[in-house]
Amino acid sequence: MNILLIGSGGREDAIARKINEKDTLYSVLLNENPSIIRMSHKYMFYERNNDEKIVEFAKKNNIDIAFIGPDDILNTGLNDTLLNNHIPTASPSRSAARIETSKEYMRYIMNKYNIAGNVPNFIFTDADEAKSFIKENNKEYAIKPIGLTGGKGVMVMGTQLKDKKDAMEYAEYIIKKDGKVLLEEKQNGEEFSLQAFTDGKTVVYAPIAQDYKRLYENDLGPNTGGMGSITDKDFSLPFIRTDQKKKAMKILSDIVNALREEGNPFSGVIYGQFMVNENSLKVIEINSRFADPEGINILTLLKTNIVDIFLDIYSKTLKNDIKFDSMATTLKYIVPFGYGINPVETELLIENNIETDSLKLYYASVSGTMNRVKTTHSRSLALIGIAKSIYEASDIVEQSIHKISGNYYMRHDIGSREMVERKIKNL
Ligand code: AMP
Ligand code: GLY
Repeated sequence: MNILLIGSGGREDAIARKINEKDTLYSVLLNENPSIIRMSHKYMFYERNNDEKIVEFAKKNNIDIAFIGPDDILNTGLNDTLLNNHIPTASPSRSAARIETSKEYMRYIMNKYNIAGNVPNFIFTDADEAKSFIKENNKEYAIKPIGLTGGKGVMVMGTQLKDKKDAMEYAEYIIKKDGKVLLEEKQNGEEFSLQAFTDGKTVVYAPIAQDYKRLYENDLGPNTGGMGSITDKDFSLPFIRTDQKKKAMKILSDIVNALREEGNPFSGVIYGQFMVNENSLKVIEINSRFADPEGINILTLLKTNIVDIFLDIYSKTLKNDIKFDSMATTLKYIVPFGYGINPVETELLIENNIETDSLKLYYASVSGTMNRVKTTHSRSLALIGIAKSIYEASDIVEQSIHKISGNYYMRHDIGSREMVERKIKNL
C-alpha cells in the first residue's frame, strides 16, 4: 500500500520506520530529515496554506491512507481537506483535535460530561478580574494559554512563577496577547502519558510512558518539548499503581465517548497526560496525536503492523489486539547546545552501525546525511535503549553516545536507577 506521512520530527521517523516495514512510504517534510528521506519512495515539502499541493501529491501517487504527526498541522484542517478529496486518513478532524488545540474545549468536555480527574478550571477574558482572582485566592494555579505553544506556554505558580505578582503579570500578558487565559488549580505528583489508538469508539492502550519535560537534570529549569522518556516492561511504571492505571484508561475512553456523544467523534491517536499522587489522579492535558518523545518509545515496541491499525481506525473496525514487545525503553534526546534558551545550530557526526537490536537512533529536526547532520534550534537526535529494565536501557544509551560527536546537550539522568528510585520514594 502507499502510505502518506505528514511531518518530519523524531516521532515521524519512528512512524515512518513502522510504515516502511511492509508498505511504501510517501512523505511531506518540514525539514530534510535524512532518515525519512532515505525511506521515502517520493517526498515533497510542506507549505503552509497550500494543502491543495498535498492533495495533488496524494492523488498522483495513489495514496491508500494518510497520517498526520504534528499538532500544529492537525490544527490547520489538512485532515478534513484530505478526507473531502476522498483520501482516507487515520487522524482526527480539525474539530476533534480541539481536545488538544483548545485547552478551553478540553475542560468544557470534562466539565460537561463530569469526567473523573478534572481539576477546577477558570477562564478569564478581563485582566483585572484574572489578577484579583489570583490575588484573593490562597491557591496556586497553572496559568495557560488556550492554544498550542509547543509545550512552552504553561507557567505554574511556585515553579516558573515565583510569586503572585509574577502570576498576575503572566495572566495579564496572555490576555493581552490572546484575549483569554485559563487558570487551573495546581496539582502535585508524578506525571505520566497514556497513549492510545481509537476509531472513535474502541480504545486500545499503549504502554504508559513518562516524559522528562524540564531542560536540566533533576527536573530543573524551563519546560521543553520533552528531553527524553521511559516505558517499562510491564507496560506500567514502577511508581504507578494498577488501580491508577485503570482509572487513567477509563478517563481516556470516557473522553472518546464524550466526543462521540458531542457529535465530534475522534479517530486517530489520543493521549492523556496525567498527574498522580497517593490520593489522586488528575488530567493535565489531552493530546490528539502521538507524543514526542513518548510516542517513539511505544512505536519502537509496537509489534502489530501500523498500516493495519491505520486502516482499522479509518474504517472504524479497530480491534483490541494491538501488541507491544514486553521490554523497557529509555529515550534521551540530543539537542543543540543552548536548546530552549539560546540554541546554537551545529553539526553532529554519527558513526556507522550505531544501531543494534537494543539501541535505535531516530532523526528529528535535522538535515544532511545519516552520518553528518546539521541541527536547527529544535531537538536533533533521539537515542533509545531497549532492555529488561529502564536503568539497563538508560545504560545502553550512555554506552553508545561516544559514537555521536558535536556541540550538543543531553540529560543523562533520564531513566537512571537513582532517578527512578527517587520517584518511587516520592510517591
Ligand atoms: P501542558 O503544556 O499543559 O502539558 O503543561 C506543561 C507542564 O506544566 C505539565 O507537564 C505540568 O508539569 C505543568 N502543569 C500543567 N498543568 C498543571 C496543573 N494543573 N498543575 C500543576 N502543573 C501543571
Ligand atoms: N512530550 C510532550 C508532547 O508531545 O507534547
